[in-house]
Amino acid sequence: MQVNPFDYVVFGGTGDLALRKLMPALYYRERDHQLTDDSRIIGVSRTDQNTEAFRAQITKALEQFVPAEDIEAGVLARFLGRITYVPLDATKPAGNWPLLVDALKDGGEKARVFYLATSPVLFGAICRNIKEADLICPKTRVVLEKPIGKDQASANAVNNEVGAIFKEEQIFRIDHYLGKESVQNLMVLRFGNALFEPLWSANYIDHVQITVAEKVGVEGRADYYDKAGALRDMVQNHFLQLLCLVAMEPPSSLTEDMIRNEKIKVLRALRPITAQDVKSRTVRGQYRQGAIEGKSVAGYAEELGASSNTETFVAIKAEVDNWRWGGVPFYLRTGKRMPTRYSEIVIQFKAVPHNVFGRGAGELTANRLVIRLQPDEGVNLQIMTKVPGPGGLRLRSVPLNLSYAETFKDRYPDAYERLLMDTVRGNPSLFMRRDEVDAAWAWIDTIQKGWKDADQPAEPYPAGSWGPLSAALLLARDDRRWNDADY
Ligand code: BG6
Repeated sequence: MQVNPFDYVVFGGTGDLALRKLMPALYYRERDHQLTDDSRIIGVSRTDQNTEAFRAQITKALEQFVPAEDIEAGVLARFLGRITYVPLDATKPAGNWPLLVDALKDGGEKARVFYLATSPVLFGAICRNIKEADLICPKTRVVLEKPIGKDQASANAVNNEVGAIFKEEQIFRIDHYLGKESVQNLMVLRFGNALFEPLWSANYIDHVQITVAEKVGVEGRADYYDKAGALRDMVQNHFLQLLCLVAMEPPSSLTEDMIRNEKIKVLRALRPITAQDVKSRTVRGQYRQGAIEGKSVAGYAEELGASSNTETFVAIKAEVDNWRWGGVPFYLRTGKRMPTRYSEIVIQFKAVPHNVFGRGAGELTANRLVIRLQPDEGVNLQIMTKVPGPGGLRLRSVPLNLSYAETFKDRYPDAYERLLMDTVRGNPSLFMRRDEVDAAWAWIDTIQKGWKDADQPAEPYPAGSWGPLSAALLLARDDRRWNDADY
């Protein structure tokens, strides 16, 4: 179905995010006939070039990031036709903005979205200039790309600056994990099936694991990454959002603030991790030279060209102090240069209270629900079964396995496709509200301070491994182990 007509302005239009994610997402929406004829896309950046050069840049990016079979000449021509480019230093006074004002002329009743794919330190100035240039119309939205600040104070400053110009309902703080099909499916799994919810608590769940393993290193983003590290880059946003979706109470509906009201309660119930317990509840790691799929890869410091104590791996034992989750640890783990790329959420149920089969039948393994987020989305439930045969009773844990790719033959849209269209529709339910960002930073800041006070170094791990040994020990101390993914 077509979305309402829009003008989409991307600040940071020639940047990595715009070319790698935003333009391909909009291209696919074009291919699916979702864009009205009069919708326009305007790239803004400081690069001094014209629209033709920008279109060529986008074509090249699409060739790189969209599979060749999905690029259709007619669709591409239509898509490029709606794109213009405005060279502009958006932090300079709005008096210099006539080109952008001109590009947005005759916008009429259309939705107008300003996507700030720039450093957060520029957000305030850009927003002020948007106002100065008189570009705010009734259906204006502003999208803030992560990271929003680098701690609670700086995030607050950014939110204040943007909030001085736009109302909260006009501000869309994006976390692309919320747009992933498999993440949205998590809500359907929980709240669309009677099966899980009665068991979804400390009464039946032993612990939860969330892993996001990446094969990539810092990929030319070392400047940003070295100041951020894995905790700020991944945990503050994506992990806490996933944790919230697993742990939150059922919202009464999916509209507007209902989900966000439930998420914020979880964030506020996270037990702080302070200097006293950083050593027992967190692990920091940094990759050294190693090998992935037989290919040698450089260490982080070599890629950075300097020594650094920034973590490229983090593991955390988080606790949600509320009635539902008391005593259930949430183990979080993410790292760059892991042996393979995969993300999953593991719900480990408790064992049955009594084994009626006796030891001779084999071990009774507790149920485990694995929600695979990437690369091959699916759900896997480990259940106990009898091994067929006339002999004695023998038990085995086997998977009930749902693969989305096999069940749904359709193409899987990228997270940004859904989220960009939500910004046009003005639907903020999958975006982070200001209080969520604030609460998430408050928890992260305490850990960050704990690391500093306790002087906790980043332990080395070879590229292509599952992180420092301490990450395995974090669970072993509790007599548990990470789900061994064999992706
Ligand atoms: C981004 C981080 O937000 O998420 C990157 O800044 C990370 O460092 C990326 O690689 C992971 O996203 P995805 O969708 O590939 O899991």
